[in-house]
Amino acid sequence: MTRHFLDLDQLDSGTLRGILDLSVAIKKRPAAYANVLAGRTLAMIFEKASTRTRVSFDVGMRQLGGGSVELGSGSHVGERETMADTARVLSRYVDAIMIRTDGPEKLTELAQSASVPVINGLTDRSHPCQLMADIMTFEEHRGPIAGRTVAWVGDGNNVAASWLHAAVRFGFALHIATPPSLALSQDLLDWAKREGGDVQTTTDAKEAAAKADAVVTDTWVSMGDDDERDRRLKLLAPYQVDQTLMDTAGPEALFLHCLPAHRGEEVTAEVMDGPRSVVWDEAENRLHAQKGILAWCLNATEQGS
Ligand code: CP
Ligand code: NVA
Repeated sequence: MTRHFLDLDQLDSGTLRGILDLSVAIKKRPAAYANVLAGRTLAMIFEKASTRTRVSFDVGMRQLGGGSVELGSGSHVGERETMADTARVLSRYVDAIMIRTDGPEKLTELAQSASVPVINGLTDRSHPCQLMADIMTFEEHRGPIAGRTVAWVGDGNNVAASWLHAAVRFGFALHIATPPSLALSQDLLDWAKREGGDVQTTTDAKEAAAKADAVVTDTWVSMGDDDERDRRLKLLAPYQVDQTLMDTAGPEALFLHCLPAHRGEEVTAEVMDGPRSVVWDEAENRLHAQKGILAWCLNATEQGS
């Protein structure tokens, strides 16, 4: 079976914990994994902007002994060739494909026709790689996330959807506060319920943040939402993560943000740059998490084992 990393709901809890354990092991002893992907290449397709995902996948491949090739403007991807045909061709050259795109259907089409692992580097619907780094970061600072409570405050977007998947798979409670018109879809909430997850929704940021072990937010205007910027800024103004909201959470509550961040919009500078913020560790962990995901997808084991 080809090991795709498409979404957290498509992998079971044991597999996800295994990938996370591998990421932690690689972070701890990078030298033991320095050549596990020697001779292997990752194709990276970016149909949307990226700093962290681009650099962490590229550097991650290098640190595991492999390399990467990026396809962006100048390639035929998504324009003069179907995703399925691109998948068939790339599968003859490379060992894995990472894609950042708008529609989840493009990711599915690519995975269905690729004979090598496909990794979701973000779509409009989800951002699973981000969550592996986020869980890793929480656990480095606070121990096991199972049984803890995380508050998502702001837009019910792609990153929020992956937090919902993660809550179910890693066994923590997720309290989500969004304006009604920017809530996560009923399908997602129904899925969490069917899976026995503890996911609660509200329109009140303070209610969600009360006693949370971590408060998480993201930009109010995701890539592709620029036309709605004014409307979103108005709707989301009551959801800014500020010191008062952090004080509503537990005294030990961490602040997480996938970045890029917009100080003065979804988060104040005081919180973003304050003592409870772990956003730089979170950004660093994209690299270590990516390496775990790549090693798992390509079935790489520690040298000598
Ligand atoms: N958090 C994240 O995915 O960042 P980039 O958009 O810079 O890749
Ligand atoms: N929700 C954001 C995440 C960026 C990493 C976006 O899709 O633009």
